[in-house]
Amino acid sequence: MEIGSPLLVGSKKIMLLGSGELGKEMAIEAQRMGVEVIAVDRYDMAPPAMHVAHRRYVINMLDKNAIKALVHREGPPDAIIAEIEAINTDALVELEEEGFKVVPNARAVKICMNRIELRRLAAEKLQLPTTRYFFAESVEDVKRACKDLGFPCLLKPEMSSSGHGHVLISKYDDVERGFKEALAHARGGSSSKVVVEEYVKIDRELTVLTYRYLLGNNVVTNTVLPIEHQRPEGVYYYVESWHPATVSEEIMKRARDYAIRLVNELGGLGIYGVEILITRDGRVLFSEAAPRPPHDTGLVTLVSTDINEFQIHVRSALGLPTPEVKLVTPAAAHVILADTETWAPRITGLEEALRIPGGVQVRLFGKPFTYRHRRMGIVLATGSTVQEAREKARLAASLIKVR
Ligand SMILES: Nc1ncnc2c1ncn2[C@@H]1O[C@H](COP(=O)(O)OP(=O)(O)O)[C@@H](O)[C@H]1O
Ligand SMILES: [Mg+2]
Repeated sequence: MEIGSPLLVGSKKIMLLGSGELGKEMAIEAQRMGVEVIAVDRYDMAPPAMHVAHRRYVINMLDKNAIKALVHREGPPDAIIAEIEAINTDALVELEEEGFKVVPNARAVKICMNRIELRRLAAEKLQLPTTRYFFAESVEDVKRACKDLGFPCLLKPEMSSSGHGHVLISKYDDVERGFKEALAHARGGSSSKVVVEEYVKIDRELTVLTYRYLLGNNVVTNTVLPIEHQRPEGVYYYVESWHPATVSEEIMKRARDYAIRLVNELGGLGIYGVEILITRDGRVLFSEAAPRPPHDTGLVTLVSTDINEFQIHVRSALGLPTPEVKLVTPAAAHVILADTETWAPRITGLEEALRIPGGVQVRLFGKPFTYRHRRMGIVLATGSTVQEAREKARLAASLIKVR
């Protein structure tokens, strides 16, 4: 493998489909390795990765022809990285058939964005333990599922992310409204299917970063020590994560085993975020997986490990190895969320937050507009224990405001 000079003949190029905060960190890591970075998104000027890429393009990423035309015009990127879910996956499949390298691979991107396909693969094909579930296409289907699962149960659209369209159903009278609401939040609006899940009482949640890299002609799969995270009661996105997880060795081992089995089935090269639920009655369940460095939960590796999740992904994408990832310190991350809608938001409170001694850092994503609960940045903190790091991150985040 050779890396030429960016912008000149022989350069190595990666194309990011999606230019959010994850793309920004990947772009930075690629830049550090002398790789040319092309950022693509659906709007101009300010998606975070566009600030650090060599070139940018604005296209409708749900349009198959737009993606394909761009890839051919760039002729060809060494790796195409799907940074978000809302892209036309048929374009990825066709590009892969033409010989382009999609990271981790087109099939994995397609399966992971679809709850039904992912459940089929994880629970039915691989027999990994999950919550009990049914697929439903009508109010009647949902009612039948509720009867079997009991109340409350949770509806999730076939395709959505960050908890969009999750509806908790606690009685038969709620089913019709809940089904409509779940479908209204489904991505693309085309699907009429939902997953109905048993609602479990969660004790802990883990993310197992699991990555595949090339070593000679073989692919090696490895995991990073599990990360733990938490969300506030009643919402379905995370605000806080810490590394390492504070669970028993036995749970760590099972979580890593499930993650490796799933990721080996999905294949390709790159990092996956595999989410595991631990219920109050002691079950360790596979929940879902993202075919990319995961949001929120994985950002803690910017300070906790010697090689962070973005470096791992970029290295794998280029065909380079990452034999081992070591935890260097306990650390925590806390998100900074917007609470209203506004253009050109301003962040305040940094003087106070950064006065806290001991490894407190702030990453502001630089997004041009906010909406309620949009992730605008993250606070990172280290400590001699996870508890200490969490307290610092939490305090610092509480001092920072988006106006
Ligand atoms: N069956 C369930 N019972 C209880 N809580 C759940 C269940 N499924 C998901 N959750 C909670 O909701 C969060 C988001 O669900 P998830 O399936 O990961 O959706 P998303 O793709 O939107 O992240 C999970 O991390 C977990 O905290
Ligand atoms: Mg999730």
